[in-house]
Amino acid sequence: MNSFTFYNPVKIHFGKDALEKLPEELAQYGDKVLIVYGGGSIKNNGVYDAVVSTLKKAGKTVFELSGVEPNPRVETARKGIEICKKESIDLVLAVGGGSVIDCSKLIAAGAKVDEDAWNIVIKKTQVTDALPLGTVLTLAATGSEMNSGSVISNEETKEKYGWGHPLVFPKFSILDPSYTFSVPKIHTVYGMVDIMSHVFEQYFHDATNTPITDEMCEGVLRTVINTAPKLIEDLENYELRETILLAGTIGLNGFLSIGSRGDWATHNIEHSVSAVYDIPHGGGLAIIFPNWMRHNLSVNPERFAGLATRVFNVDPKGKTTEQVALEGIERLREFWTSIGAPSRLADYEIDDSQLDILVEKSMVNGPFGRFKTLQAEDVRKILEMSL
Ligand code: NZQ
Ligand code: ZN
Repeated sequence: MNSFTFYNPVKIHFGKDALEKLPEELAQYGDKVLIVYGGGSIKNNGVYDAVVSTLKKAGKTVFELSGVEPNPRVETARKGIEICKKESIDLVLAVGGGSVIDCSKLIAAGAKVDEDAWNIVIKKTQVTDALPLGTVLTLAATGSEMNSGSVISNEETKEKYGWGHPLVFPKFSILDPSYTFSVPKIHTVYGMVDIMSHVFEQYFHDATNTPITDEMCEGVLRTVINTAPKLIEDLENYELRETILLAGTIGLNGFLSIGSRGDWATHNIEHSVSAVYDIPHGGGLAIIFPNWMRHNLSVNPERFAGLATRVFNVDPKGKTTEQVALEGIERLREFWTSIGAPSRLADYEIDDSQLDILVEKSMVNGPFGRFKTLQAEDVRKILEMSL
């Protein structure tokens, strides 16, 4: 293991009626609350009414920013920042999926600086303060409810980057599995692909002797694989939703990467693709990840083979390590396809016409990846395999 310092201050309220904990959280902040939400799903499923009535009962003055896009844009965060500054907002409350939470993190930090919010994303402006942020999560996927990361797109420049700061860890997050009942099948699938991808990116690291986190990663993967086929046939099943919701939070709250540093190459490449084509994050990952695995199999075939046998039930008898490893990757692809995830960029009508731009955007900060450092030609190969 590598030496590590672990810090995660997010208070999670999880379960049926978790919203009942909101008043005690609200009591710790001033009167003015900005609620941030997306394109309207929370109005259709009753979450908006439940949150707003709780805020009103607590005597809060409610301000609203709606219309946060999937792949949230800096332009929208700027609007939220303006409201925070003009109205002296005391608490930002994100109500939605990862996009809403990520946008709210930028609003919380952007409200405390004079510079443009995009400078925070590109790390030109240092975050030194932030408004307190709470979240009410409605979609299991990103883990943003319990981490300090945020991914923001710039529509004008067709860029999409992750940034993060300990000051934007949510103070609290409310996770009621029933709030995820209304997530459509395809977004449920994208969410589960994202969760599994986060686990993979932490599993493929360059540290040695990591048996605890290896087992934790494999356990989360097996659980998602066992749950996913049942959930897509039974979207309002509380126990299945509860399992996936917790998987999403555990998947990216730092626990799985204590003692090691993962390889976020696939996320980096996917962010370039969704910056240019605005495709759903989970869909992009489903296409690219098995190809990243194939491309890097030779770095440590034993690790891929272990994953294949312990998570994908590949029978190793009479096969070479490479064959076992490859069969595991094929089973991952089959599994994702079986639940309805895309497998080729062509599924989103993406061809090779912008390949150079995708490679260039992926390489903007130079070679990347810890399990295997990728150069431009590696990225090109992985993208070509994904067409
Ligand atoms: O906008 P609304 O109307 O709310 O609809 C959303 C959106 O269309 C809908 N939805 C959410 N909850 C729902 C619901 N529909 C019905 N019922 C509900 N309960 O689902 C659609 C997708 O929502 P979005 O928030 O975009 O999905 P997700 O949570 O997957 O977030 C994706 C974003 O997070 C970033 C991605 O790059 C992408 O921009 N990521 C953030 C990370 C982080 N902060 O740690 C890490 C991730 O790897 C990821 O990169
Ligand atoms: Zn992700």
